[in-house]
This record gives sequence, C-alpha cells and structure tokens, in this order.
Amino acid sequence: MKGILLAGGSGTRLYPLTEVTSKQLLPIYDKPMIYYPLSVLMLANIRDILIISTPQDKPRFQRLLQDGKRFGIHIEYAIQERPGGIVEALLIGAHFIGNDSCALILGDNIFYGNGLTKILQHGHGTAEEGNALLYAYSVSHPEDFGVVTFDQQYHVQSIQEKPSHPQSNYAITGLYFYPQGVVQLAKEVQPSQRNELEITTFNQKYLEQHKLKVEILGQSMNWFDAGTIDDLVIATNFVKTIENREGINISSPEEIAYQFGWISLEEFKETIEYYQQSLYGQHLKAMLKEK
Ligand code: DAU
Repeated sequence: MKGILLAGGSGTRLYPLTEVTSKQLLPIYDKPMIYYPLSVLMLANIRDILIISTPQDKPRFQRLLQDGKRFGIHIEYAIQERPGGIVEALLIGAHFIGNDSCALILGDNIFYGNGLTKILQHGHGTAEEGNALLYAYSVSHPEDFGVVTFDQQYHVQSIQEKPSHPQSNYAITGLYFYPQGVVQLAKEVQPSQRNELEITTFNQKYLEQHKLKVEILGQSMNWFDAGTIDDLVIATNFVKTIENREGINISSPEEIAYQFGWISLEEFKETIEYYQQSLYGQHLKAMLKEK
C-alpha cells in the first residue's frame, strides 16, 4: 500500500502566519504539523509515502524530512501547482500509486487515541480487500466538514460536502483508504463549480458501487483539523497536556520507526543526539529509558 500526504493549499485563512511558510510546517506544540499525519500513515504500516506540496514549499519539506531513511521509510515529493482539489493528489501521484492500494491523508489532520494503530491497520486491510474506507467523528459543527450518514449496521447512506443542513453530526475526517484501481476512478471526477476535484464527489463513486465503508472514531479517539488559528491553539494545548502529563511523545515518526523495528537502536540513539536538548529530544530520551 502507498501513502499520499497532501500538504499544499494557500493557507490564506492563517495569514500572516503562512505568508512565508506552509501551514503544515507550523508548530503543533513541539513538532511541525506534518509529523502528525506522517505518523498516522506509518502507524497504518505504510512505508512508501509521497508528500505533495506547493512549488515554494516542496524544498522546505525535503529539508525537514529528506528521503525518510531516518524514519525507516521512503519519502518522495511532488508539486501541486495550485489547489485544484483533494482528488488531484491521486492524479499527481498516479505514477507513484501505480496499481497499488493507497491511503490519502490531509496534512492538517491530527489523530490521537487508544487503539489508533488497530483502527488504522483495519483501514489498510479494508482497502486491500477491495473497499474504500472513511473515518467519521462526531462534532458540534458538522456543516464545516464532509458529513456522512449511516444505518444501524454502519452502512453508509449518504455523504455530503459541507451541507447547510447536516443530517448527522458525523464529520468525515481527512484520512481515506482506497483499493486498487483508485487512480482510474479519480480520473472520472469532474471539476465542481469552484473548479476543484472534490473528495466527496470521488467518495460518492465508491458509494454508488457499494464499496464505501465507514468506521466511527469513538470517544477514546481525538481528531483535529488544524485549519484555523483557534484549531491550532486547541491542538497545541491538547498535545502539550498529554505529552507533559504522561511524559510521552504524540506522533513521533522516529519513535514509531523504532517500535516497529524499522530503525535500529543505534539509529534511534543518533536521532536523539540530533534533537539534542529540545523538548522533542527529551521525550524521545525518556522513552528509551523506559525500555
Ligand atoms: O479535514 C476534513 C475535511 O477536509 C473533510 O471533512 C472535508 O470533506 C474535506 O473536503 C476537507 O475539507 P476542508 O475544508 O478542510 O478542505 P480544504 O480545502 O481546507 O483542504 C484541506 C487541506 O488540504 C488543507 O490543509 C489544504 C490541503 N489542500 C487542499 C486542496 C483543496 C491541498 O493541499 N490542495 C488542494 O487542492
């Protein structure tokens, strides 16, 4: 399975913070935002990852994450010239995906909670079995998101993008698992009125084919879309509280790589050395001591 991390967009809602840098490089407490979705793909057991960003930001992501070797993964980079819609990521990544299954995650989505690894690996398995999978999370303002409705057996009934009268409280999160053949289907999506290739239009195609599943993220799970200043603050405060209370690192790619056996103890120690006295480095050091 391949992973695509979409980290483009103009970030205008966060001006002036994003005038000279990318939204997905802004800090969520002790690490850049992109570490969180990158960790999610890794927890889903995906080691081949394509990061898509703007022409001006691509070199910045490359400098930060390089070829992924220090996380025991392989990272490639591609450019989205203008925000043409989330589905465009699948077209830009067509060659990279080939005939494989694929997970797509938005660079401003943060997931944390009990059993996350199991939930993600279930998504991986569902796609490999030939179905698409979305995750839904109950929110107080569903009209700001894609919204899903489902029956008592969790069969998807409808999905709508930012409906003015939502029929459920379940937002569709920015993490999508797709089976083989995803690129061919993405090519069929027509631009919307605002000239974007809309993710909800694409997911509706799977719904029509009876190949769309949804998994509900329950109360033990936390999901943030860090798209506004307030969301950034909420996510930062959340990570600060958990990390300091429990002395752990949330969404550290190095830690996941070490726990999954993708990097050796020696390589992990080199990483700790590299981060030196930063809080991020201290949390990694503490994790090593517990072993
Ligand atoms: O976060 C979950 C929501 O993400 C879903 O519930 C919605 O169904 C989905 O459409 C999306 O809604 P947003 O309003 O968050 O979409 P936005 O256009 O803000 O894009 C989300 C992220 O993807 C943002 O960080 C920028 C990036 N992006 C977006 C587009 C359209 C790109 O890199 N390129 C693009 O062309």
